[in-house]
Amino acid sequence: IDGNDVYYTLTAQEGETQILPGKKTKTWGYSTSLLGKTIVYKKGVHYHVHLVNKLPEVTTFHWHGLNVTGPIVDGGPHAPVYPGGSRDIDFTLDQQAQTDWLHPHPCPNTARQVYRGLAAAVVVTDEEESKLPFPRNYGVDDIPLILQDRNYHDNQLDYDADYDMDGTLGTYALVNGTVNGVFDVSTQRVRLRILNGANRREWRLHFDDEHEFTQIASDGGTLPEPVQFTRLMLTCAERAEVIVDFGDKKPGDIVTLMSDNIPIMKFRIGEYKRSDVELPEHLTTIPTPIPTKGTQIVHTVMSGMDDQVRLDGKLFDMQRIDKRQKIGDTVLWDVTNTNDMHQGMIHPFHMHGNQFLVLSRNGKEVYPNEHGWKDVVGVNAGETVRLAVKFTKFGVYMYHCHILEHEDTGMMAQIEAY
Ligand code: C2O
Ligand code: CU
Ligand code: CU
Repeated sequence: IDGNDVYYTLTAQEGETQILPGKKTKTWGYSTSLLGKTIVYKKGVHYHVHLVNKLPEVTTFHWHGLNVTGPIVDGGPHAPVYPGGSRDIDFTLDQQAQTDWLHPHPCPNTARQVYRGLAAAVVVTDEEESKLPFPRNYGVDDIPLILQDRNYHDNQLDYDADYDMDGTLGTYALVNGTVNGVFDVSTQRVRLRILNGANRREWRLHFDDEHEFTQIASDGGTLPEPVQFTRLMLTCAERAEVIVDFGDKKPGDIVTLMSDNIPIMKFRIGEYKRSDVELPEHLTTIPTPIPTKGTQIVHTVMSGMDDQVRLDGKLFDMQRIDKRQKIGDTVLWDVTNTNDMHQGMIHPFHMHGNQFLVLSRNGKEVYPNEHGWKDVVGVNAGETVRLAVKFTKFGVYMYHCHILEHEDTGMMAQIEAY
């Protein structure tokens, strides 16, 4: 879409989708029956979105990863849209190109609504990124992969039957709502914008032939340097943009993307367009964060499992402001997961409204793909992760565990930027 002011409508609605052979599945989606079309936003453009709720219950429209002003535009639990109702928001993005997502955030029904199908990929574009030699022909060599898992009972979802306090898991792996998906490869290099849209599952991705791929971006956009992998783990709500080079494959070959030993989807190699583009060693420059003088280290403790989960020992209360931070200050946040190192769960820590840098894990080096901006970080059991955060916009923002059932139980708090 072109122009400096863009108006459009986004509707949360019910529908039916052919997922498994036989009966269709009742699903929810954004302006479609399941998930939603990828939303592409250009940095600097003023967007006016008319949000409509055609669902039988209250929902919210949360822009996970977007640096927008205040809790209403952000779409956390403060911004309910009632059944049959609507809300108008507008914003201009001033953040770098990245892959984000839209999902509901009503407390305490986030997990159930995402499970039903409410989630859509959001792609932010900007000039800087458009100059990098990345594939960007949407649907051809640049595709979003929303990874989720579900169970079906006579082809229908039954959230209550499958509910797990520690996060609902499914036996079917879905990519963009599809089981056993196949992508026809027509170019040597393919860019995958991978989003972990699961309620709880961590994906440990690899190809069946241990094919290499290169990560170029994380939650907050381009990484300073490309990182080569054969295995990549994504915790809940994390994103990774990777480029896969199929140059050693010939037409007819099939490569399978797996998580552990579960096949997720296939890449069918066709007569593909060759490319000799090489990635530069340096992609972008990320500033070294310098904590503002006089600020204290902020501490957050994520504890427990099942109904014992707590954030700083407490459950969420929308009437309570848990922390305050001055706009423009850069502060260090230490996020600790007190679970037992050997058998405890990872809690993926997420913050709204502002992206952060990950400085250390238990005082040591972060993972090689954590050198860019992020808004979710998997905090391992028994670990303290140090972040550098700077809030740039006024308002109240949520921070929470992104295992959706933990969030709904109340493993969530709010910070006021002033
Ligand atoms: Cu992905 Cu509070 O959100
Ligand atoms: Cu969010
Ligand atoms: Cu958790």
